[in-house]
Amino acid sequence: MSDLIAKAASLDARDQLAKHRELFALDDGVVYLDGNSLGALPRHVPGRMADVITREWGELRIRSWDESGWWTAPERIGDRIAPLVGAAPGQVVVGDSTSVNVFKALVAAVRLVDRAGGEDRDEIVVDATTFPTDGYIAESAARLTGKRLVAAAPGDVAGTVGPRTAVALVNHVDYRTGRLHDLPGITAAVHAAGALAVWDLCHSAGALPVDLDAHGVDLAVGCTYKYLNGGPGAPAFLYVAERHQPGFDSPLPGWNSHADPFAMTPGYAAAEGAARGRVGTPDILSMLALEASLDVWEGVPVEVVRAKSLALTDFFLECVEAYVPEGRVTSVTPEAHGERGSQVSLRCVEAHAVMKELIARGVVGDLRRPDVLRFGFTPLYVSFADAERAARVLADVLSESTG
Ligand SMILES: Cc1ncc(COP(=O)(O)O)c(C=O)c1O
Repeated sequence: MSDLIAKAASLDARDQLAKHRELFALDDGVVYLDGNSLGALPRHVPGRMADVITREWGELRIRSWDESGWWTAPERIGDRIAPLVGAAPGQVVVGDSTSVNVFKALVAAVRLVDRAGGEDRDEIVVDATTFPTDGYIAESAARLTGKRLVAAAPGDVAGTVGPRTAVALVNHVDYRTGRLHDLPGITAAVHAAGALAVWDLCHSAGALPVDLDAHGVDLAVGCTYKYLNGGPGAPAFLYVAERHQPGFDSPLPGWNSHADPFAMTPGYAAAEGAARGRVGTPDILSMLALEASLDVWEGVPVEVVRAKSLALTDFFLECVEAYVPEGRVTSVTPEAHGERGSQVSLRCVEAHAVMKELIARGVVGDLRRPDVLRFGFTPLYVSFADAERAARVLADVLSESTG
């Protein structure tokens, strides 16, 4: 047995999250390192969904909006996500996609600034390395609000914001490289410039502590189908800090965010609190699958998840270094723990063919074109043995190809 196989066994034996793997539908033949794209299915969710469909929908039908708590699901589930992102209750609402929530958050943030006397702040600063949807939507939000878009890499945001900045939109973890950005420092710099900070937490929610309240973040969005295992297309979440809720003026004021939706009045009056971020009828089936999947977090502090995530990614990098022929891959994920999310991205020639072969051999990661192999580490179900095996199979594939 190689030293690294023995080391993996010893790390797994000491892993306090090891037993959580059994909660997920995973087969032992596959190393699943794509939870940063689609989280694995918690085993109990199909049973819960069978009840939702056959009893709540099939038997109770319309009564379920009240009796099964469907109507209040967006805020109730928001309150279950809240502790995972460091938010006190009443500030997170679930619904729509991340893209739609980016739109709500950005336009609402600009309106907050404008109404606080900041109309001459004519710039929206957007993360130049952002996941594309945020950039596309920010461009549209800028046009709609009469602002100008300014692109800045997250490391340059602090030096870019100034008296003309209304809002800055930044990704907490870079989807391509796995780099973790300095949320406390950037938020503080944005505030010092008199602007508001909107964060995209898609690659950090459920993977590491975010501490939204502690760092004074203004608004945030995130998806639930990655590290929160909510299922394909599971609804996203929107965080609106309590201090901003009275002034939160949604650009999509649908009837679900009305103070009295069933009054059916022609005029709009916004609901109090996080419900103000709602739009239309919630997608109940996806939402309740997400709610059930959150059960796997029972008794799991996100700090413990973070410690294992760092240990896993350290160990994977150690195995890659030991096994993979020199020069065949280059890590684009930072070494420093303070700058690393929960994935490792390796630049590699012929990355497409390499990932295809890895998947064929039971190591599932993904690819970001043209040349980045992404390996996501979900501490609730990935083991150290998985990390060792993934690096070993990668080394085999690369040794067999000419590159
Ligand atoms: C950082 C980031 N933002 C936004 C999105 C897009 O989210 P959605 O397709 O749910 O709107 C993703 C999707 O992977 C993402 O990684």
